[in-house]
Amino acid sequence: MTTSNNNNSPIAFFDSGIGGLTVLNKVRAILPNEKVLYYGDTLHMPYGEKTKEELLEYSDNIFRFFEEKGAKAVVMACNTTSSVIYEDVKDKYNFKLYPIVQSVSKILAGLNVEKLGIFATRATIESGAYQKEIAKYNPNMQVFGQYCSNWVHIVEENSMNSDTNRTIIKNDLEKMLRNCPEKIVLGCTHYPFLTGVLSKFVPASMFIDPAVDFANFIKTDLEVNGLLCSDNTAVEEFYVSSNPELFQSSAKMFYEVKDLPQLLTF
Ligand code: DGL
Repeated sequence: MTTSNNNNSPIAFFDSGIGGLTVLNKVRAILPNEKVLYYGDTLHMPYGEKTKEELLEYSDNIFRFFEEKGAKAVVMACNTTSSVIYEDVKDKYNFKLYPIVQSVSKILAGLNVEKLGIFATRATIESGAYQKEIAKYNPNMQVFGQYCSNWVHIVEENSMNSDTNRTIIKNDLEKMLRNCPEKIVLGCTHYPFLTGVLSKFVPASMFIDPAVDFANFIKTDLEVNGLLCSDNTAVEEFYVSSNPELFQSSAKMFYEVKDLPQLLTF
């Protein structure tokens, strides 16, 4: 992971849609001066149902766009791409690359629990990435992965409060609870949008949003490498591959996207 860009270059974030905003929100809270680029690949959402080849193709286009924009760092604000393609892409581009799963697993492995649940997309769960990364630091922790096929769509459509969708979420949660986890990681960046609904059934303290630790990890790494922004322009540019209006309105719960995102497809 290297960069030839300077400390006042932007940090770029990407995800399949609004999920990465749960990470941007936490990064913004501790790095208010940074310039930010955000790409939401809404046309290809959900990433969790895509093949590795498809994820490599989408990410390559996005990474090359970020290179052209001179990003100093790229935040994989997406558990799915971090789990499935990070190892293939980590040395290919001219910026520092931060994958969420690999960046937070050490901290998760240090939690004082014996049984840890992970809610994530199908691709993340089937990759076994969380289990492998956590086992590097704590082979004794029992990690239960479960995918929730409908959750990303529910978040993107902002339809988590319909009776049908609440029942879907409740049923998925009950299935996980049969493993008796002491904590459950929201291992898809879309899922923190569902904390309000989930906490109707179990206390909110049951859930871990890894974005908090991820943001601290990014800040520390930028600091150590002399890459923190030294001016305070804090400009933000948002791009999506379809439906900018829906992105802007569904985003509201986690982030105020002031201007309509620009439409950009590859
Ligand atoms: N939010 C992403 C993740 O963290 C991708 C969700 C999807 O599009 O399936 O995995």
